[in-house]
Amino acid sequence: MAKLKSKFVCQECGYETAKWLGRCPSCEEWNTFVEEFESKGNDPKSQRGISKGVIEKINNITSTKKERISTGSMEMDRVLGGGIIKSSLILVGGDPGIGKSTLLLQVADHAAKQELKVLYVSGEESGEQIKIRADRLGIGDGELYVLAETNIDIIIEYVEKEKPDLLVLDSIQTIYSPQVASAPGSVTQVREVTSMVMGMTKTRNMATFIVGHVTKSGAIAGPRVLEHMVDTVLYFEGERHFSYRILRAVKNRFGSTNEIGIFEMRDRGLIEVENPSEVFLKGRPLDAYGTVVTAAMEGTRPVLIEIQALVTYSPVGFANRVTTGIDKNRASMLIAVLEKKAGLSIQSSDIFINVTGGLQIKEPACDLAILCALASSFKEIPVDFKTVLIGEVGLTGEIRGVNSIEKRLLEAKKMGFERAVIAEANAEISKEIKNMEIIPVNNIRQVMEILF
Ligand code: TYD
Ligand code: MG
Repeated sequence: MAKLKSKFVCQECGYETAKWLGRCPSCEEWNTFVEEFESKGNDPKSQRGISKGVIEKINNITSTKKERISTGSMEMDRVLGGGIIKSSLILVGGDPGIGKSTLLLQVADHAAKQELKVLYVSGEESGEQIKIRADRLGIGDGELYVLAETNIDIIIEYVEKEKPDLLVLDSIQTIYSPQVASAPGSVTQVREVTSMVMGMTKTRNMATFIVGHVTKSGAIAGPRVLEHMVDTVLYFEGERHFSYRILRAVKNRFGSTNEIGIFEMRDRGLIEVENPSEVFLKGRPLDAYGTVVTAAMEGTRPVLIEIQALVTYSPVGFANRVTTGIDKNRASMLIAVLEKKAGLSIQSSDIFINVTGGLQIKEPACDLAILCALASSFKEIPVDFKTVLIGEVGLTGEIRGVNSIEKRLLEAKKMGFERAVIAEANAEISKEIKNMEIIPVNNIRQVMEILF
């Protein structure tokens, strides 16, 4: 027998070397190299169903409108770009215990109820365990089949025999190909199995979900390797101790990646949250200083979020800066603007900024709110709780207009806000909004005069 060729693969990012290294030169993680063996597999390209060697004029290629299957959840459909596309491969990543299996079992059940044949393959749980979960979720009618198996060859055999429309593989780390000598879950295995599944998905006109656990640094094992192989990558996130979960598309060949879906984990499964603003404003203190509300856009949807800041005296020589949910550099910039352009001497204080509900905001439209939360905490003066703040802040202290202002204001109005402080550049369009006091501003000095 020919000697198997060995290589060392970083389990974080998939970087390969001929000899063992302590630290990965690509992702800079320590102690992530594991010895793996070359697969005896076939040409991965042909397995992925990519047609080779045909040259065609782009206008002559017919593009059929892809058929989409509803997942039964409006939130999930939106994240996918309007439902599941047939012959697409979707990776769902997330921390262990976050609810991936629950979500996919619910999706599988819904598809089965629409007369589709669904095969749910679990490498983690026995058929009985899946049944117990299904009973708890109150599901299980229709053409939903389960298979507890980890060998990809056997799984492929079943798929060929049963011809499902939807296949779920839970999880990719437990499934292995006997042709590969490396352990299940290793980069080589995960890559090989994904490539086989990709080929099968493309040729069979079925849709496949694969579940991937996230490793300590927040990436799916074989992460970048997997992400570029599949059509769509969704992350299921949330704090395990809170019941809210966010489904986010980070890559989507068939839709936008801006959308998020919000779910709540109840004792009978995941329920979609139709009004996220209500969730993110729940429990908000009404007369405290250091808290304000802004309207952010999550994809096409406006969401109201609370931003909190705490500015305190720093007893040590250097100031402590902690931000959760917003970029630290952006926060530093806003602190500097506040110091220089509004005359607040906060640079030497300890500063903590928090976006409640575990959301990450990247939009400059939230600048004004962050700035006002800081000023409110520093001055110990609350901002009126029925006021929403929307605007980008520039380095000269100017307040700039933002996109989708109407949508944001309408959402605020819907949630009972009576006043909005916005950029003058947005004032014209905002006239359409009835029964809401609009306060246009130009620079942060003006904002300080109005609010404090
Ligand atoms: P699970 O879907 O097994 O997570 P993952 O597949 O991502 O590892 O869900 C795990 C948690 O969800 C578990 O701690 C129990 C909880 N859970 C509920 O709260 N309600 C439910 O209806 C179900 C099925 C699970
Ligand atoms: Mg699971």
